Formats: sequence, structure tokens, C-alpha cells
Amino acid sequence: MTDPLTSVDSTTVSHVIALCAAAADAPALTACLSAWTGSITAAVVVVVRAQGDHAAVAAILARLDPALTAEAVDGAAAAPGRIYLCPAQSTVRVVAGRLRLSRRDREIVGDPHIDVALSLLAEDQGTGAIAVLFAGAVSDAFGGTYAVKEVGGMVMVQDENAKSAGARSEVALLADYVLPAKSLLMELQGYVEHHRRMRKARKVAPEVDDDGVERVVSIIGSHTGVDFRDYQKTTLLRRIQRRMSVHRAASMVAYIDLLQQSPHEVIVLYREMLIGVTRFFRDEHAFVALRARVIPQLLARAGAQEPIRVWVAGCATGEEAYSIAMSIQDGLEDLGTHAEIKVFATDLDREAVEFASAGVYPASVVADIPPHLLERFFTRTGDSGYQIAKHIREMLVFAPHNILKDPPFYKIDLVTCRNLLIYLQPALQRKVLSSFHFALKSEGFLMLGMSESLGDLASYFSAVEGKWRLYQKTPGLRAPPPSDELFHEVHRFRPSPQRPGHPTAAAAAGDSLQEVINQSLLREFLPAFLVNEPCEVLHESLRLLSLVAECMTSIAMVTGADGSIRYVNRRFVEISGWSADEVIGGNPRLLKSPDADPRQAAELWAAITTGNRWQGRFVNRTKSGATFCEDAVIIPVLGRDGMVANYLKLSQVVPGP
Ligand SMILES: C[S@@+](CC[C@H](N)C(=O)[O-])C[C@H]1O[C@@H](n2cnc3c(N)ncnc32)[C@H](O)[C@@H]1O
Repeated sequence: MTDPLTSVDSTTVSHVIALCAAAADAPALTACLSAWTGSITAAVVVVVRAQGDHAAVAAILARLDPALTAEAVDGAAAAPGRIYLCPAQSTVRVVAGRLRLSRRDREIVGDPHIDVALSLLAEDQGTGAIAVLFAGAVSDAFGGTYAVKEVGGMVMVQDENAKSAGARSEVALLADYVLPAKSLLMELQGYVEHHRRMRKARKVAPEVDDDGVERVVSIIGSHTGVDFRDYQKTTLLRRIQRRMSVHRAASMVAYIDLLQQSPHEVIVLYREMLIGVTRFFRDEHAFVALRARVIPQLLARAGAQEPIRVWVAGCATGEEAYSIAMSIQDGLEDLGTHAEIKVFATDLDREAVEFASAGVYPASVVADIPPHLLERFFTRTGDSGYQIAKHIREMLVFAPHNILKDPPFYKIDLVTCRNLLIYLQPALQRKVLSSFHFALKSEGFLMLGMSESLGDLASYFSAVEGKWRLYQKTPGLRAPPPSDELFHEVHRFRPSPQRPGHPTAAAAAGDSLQEVINQSLLREFLPAFLVNEPCEVLHESLRLLSLVAECMTSIAMVTGADGSIRYVNRRFVEISGWSADEVIGGNPRLLKSPDADPRQAAELWAAITTGNRWQGRFVNRTKSGATFCEDAVIIPVLGRDGMVANYLKLSQVVPGP
């Protein structure tokens, strides 16, 4: 009897590999393909970087066994183990087991051919998509790599030297493998076979992995503090299965063992969970509608006092946030007026946010940007990429933020949250939408992704352009409040003190606490001194100021960027009754009185997480439960990397409440 999991139908293609290369990759291609025997259930399509690369790549394929290669012909059945070269000036895809060719009449500026081919591959093959990128193709594969990874496909990058710049590129960091050419084939065969068997097993017994997913999610939660329990299980499973195939884990149990032993793998999987495809002006018509129907209303409202405040939640690598900022600037220039614009762009993925804040993108993005905006708002960088113009970058503040846990921003004119809700289960979607309703000003606007909807919060918004998912908050209606659990959830998972793989956290941890206090006090009270005096004087002042912190009659508290207490001074201990040891590592919420204003925390976080100071009155309680009031100022302190690393709170006890 044939084992249904191991049997191979010799005519069925289980995966499609897009092998992407340039003429300069000839030696590496030869090293990889010389051992090609065709014993794999995947079909291979060869995608060349530019039309000029075609002849060199064709010459290499011509040296292989003719039974294993062919020129792609429209309508021909794709056979496993066969390598198809796409004719020059064409794009090839595999649809329902057949090759489909379309003509590519021109080279587009920046030549995004590889990006296009990979995006189609992702669309057609889903988890069966594999991108093999030779070194010469990597720079054109930015968007395509995201597309393949998002659907649960696999990406391999050829690099002979694991420490080279190529191996550290954004694309290589996303890849499942970075390997020298001679090792690619063996790993490819192993991956395809393992992944094919796993997909088949899942078809035979679909429910078996659900417990496993929950265990994996709990491991990720305890390492990162991020709770994926209410994300869509199918997406999580797809990403877990890809990592299982990379490690050839025989079962979910084996993979869980691996996770328990390898914090590195936990972080890789965590990042995989967050990978999301994005692009400038994604769903172009939705942006046209935003520009025509929403932006004029925002600009008409803009007052001299208040900036227009936009929140782009789940901004990934920044393309959506910059698209919004450019659209608003375009509107302003049309009107010939000026208004202050603030775009808060947030995402859970710190690395994505750091990438976004540089505003530098590969040349292939130009295909997504309307030419009149490209010309005005981008400059070319030396290495054939593009950078967003400074005056647009200055409108944006990028920050890490978890929409499920961190307080929402406040007094927002436009919230955009596109293609994030689809990853969440309906109950969580509702909570997030409710927090957006709370974040918006009366009659503020909301923009969602094309496959997302308001669900049962529909009555709290009216449609501006329903087709393009543009809504406006209905005045006078209060949506069900986002529960306490959403805003202030005591972390169900204990985050590790320093997140591996997070350079920002590491840099912040490098700043000594005393230095943080000193710098903030100095900036606070002696700004002129900082700018004018020579270094020796500065250091002496810092030493003196560190003594001040302990002696002063104000209460001083320093927290990390995550809000956990790192330092309290002697005055804090006197007033609160808590000892330093009891509170360090805890959360300032332990001081919160039941009489405190529940909206205050949201307003406070909206200010300080975007680098602004906050000033106000707290109603607190001591360890013994007595109420006391303090007038406080909270100052965000930037780390050496320019990100908020700590918060300093200085306060005075005042009579009240
Ligand atoms: C598919 S991308 C969408 C990017 C962009 N909004 C767009 O539509 O082009 C989804 C993004 O949501 C982010 N994300 C997932 N869960 C999140 C959470 N709880 N809080 C904030 N961002 C989250 C991911 O890191 C990822 O960057």
C-alpha cells in the first residue's frame, strides 16, 4: 500500500521556484545548477534581472541536460524537476499547473521585473512559492521578498560570504536561508520534500496542529511579551510550518523542542509572524479617493493652533505613512496654504519602524509612485535608491507601538490601519476598532484595508467612500469603550528584560541610569549650559546633578521605554511608602488610585511615546492605600539611537484631590 504522505505523483508540481539572477551571477549559477538532476517535485522558472542578462543565463542552461531544461511556452504543462527559461521580454507564471506567458514590452525605470515576478509567484503559489535570489538579483527583490514571505512561501539568498553587505541586506535578513551557491540545491531539495509532506499531512488531519500553535504562541509570548493568541490561526500555522521545513522538524513537538532550546529561533519566528507586505499608494484608487474626499476636509479644518494629526497604525516599513504625508502635502500645495501636519506612524515590529524612519527605499518602488509626487518628494541616493524629501520626513514620527496593548493616540483627525485587522480574530478586531473610535476627534476619519470592514461597529461610523473603506466617526456616538484589558493589560507574558535582536533596546540598556537622570535634569533646568559650556564643566555639572536627584524635594522616577520602573529617588520612598527594591521592575500603575481619571493614561502615552513631554496632576495612593496628589512633568529621554529609551518623571506633592 502507498503511504499517502510519501507518495509522489511524478506529474504534479508541489512548488514553483523562481530562480532570479543577473549575468554577473554566471559562476554562482553554474556552481548551483551543475549538480541539477531534476529529482525534486518543484518546477523552476528562471527570471533574469534585466533583458540584457538573458543571453548569459541562457548559455548556462544550455550546458545542462536538455531533458531538464526548456524555454517556457505559453500553455505548456509545468513538469516537476524541469527548469524553464522565460523568453526575453516576457513574464512567466504557473497557473493551475500550466505556464502562462505575458509580454513585457518595456523596461520600467528601476526595473522591478523581479519584484513583479515574485509578487505573481506569491499570488499564484501561496505557501508553495519559493524565491531563490542570486546575489545580482537581490537589490530588485525587496517588495517581492515580502510578498513571498507574507503568503508563507520560502526565500533563499545566495551569498558566498555570510558576513558580506549582501548577507546583511534587508532582503537577506528576511530570507530563510543565506547560503553559498554550491549548498543551495541540497537545501532546496530538503525543504521542498519536507514542506510537501507537511502540507499533505495537514490535509489528511487538519486539526492536529492547533494545540501546537498555541504552545508556540505561548513560547513567543514569554520571550517577547507579545501575545499572538487571538491572531488568525491559519496565518500563524503557515509561518510555523515554513520554519519547521527550514529545520526539517519531523513534528510540531520537535519544533517546539527546538524553540525551547533556541532563543534565536524564537526571535526569527516572532519576526516572521509580523511580516507584512506593503507598498506606496497600495490600492491606488483608495488613495485617489482619500485625496479627493477626505484630505480637503482635513485641510479645511486645520487651524493655526492645532496641527492635523494622523495615526498610521501597523505602518510596517513606512510606505503607507509616507504616502499619506505626501498626499496631504500635495493638497496643501494645491491650496497654496500651510498647516502643521503630524503623522504618527507605529508598528509592533521595531526593525520595520527603524527602517521606515530613514525613508530610504530601493529603486523598484518608483513603479508605485505617481510621477508628479516622485519628482517633488523623492531624491535619488548614490546607490540607485530613493530617499523621501526632508520636509516630508519631518512630518512623521515613527515609533514602536502595539495596538493591542499600548494606549491609543488621542485627538486624531485621520486613523489609517490597513491590512492588519485581517490578521486578528473578530473579537480582537472589534477592540481595535473601538480604540480607533476613541482616538479620533469628533468627525475624524478612518481608512481600512480593502478586505477589512467595521463589523458590528458600523453604526459608529458613516461611509465616506465605502468601496475604498473610508469612514467618518459619527458625531455624538460613543463606541463601546476599549476594555481596560486592551489598554492596561497586565502583561500576561513576562517580557525578557532585554529583547534579543533589538538593537534599540540594547542601545538604551547601554545608557547608565545615572546618565539618563543627569542628562534630563540638565536639559530640563540648564539648557543654555548644555549648549555653551566646554565638556569638562559639563561633566562636573553632571556629577553634581546626580547628587541633586537624591537630595531634592521633588519626587524623581525613571522608567524604561516599556514603562517599567528603573529608578526612584529618596523622596519617592518617603512619600509613597514603597522601598526602591519593591518597585524597581514594576509598573507605575501600582501608585494609581481608583479615583484617577481613566482617560489620563491614554492622553499621557499619546504625548510621551511621540517624544513630547506631558504635564499634569496625578491622583495616587501610597503603599498603605492613602491618597496623595502630585503635579508632575514626564520627559521622554532619547537613547543614543534617537529613539525614546527612558522616561523621567519629576513631581511635587500638592494638596488635593
Ligand atoms: C500587512 S502589514 C500592513 C502594512 C500597511 N499598513 C499596508 O497596508 O500596506 C501588517 C503590519 O501590522 C503589524 N502588526 C501586526 N500586529 C500588530 C500589533 N499588534 N500592533 C501594531 N502593529 C502590528 C505588522 O508588524 C505589519 O507590519
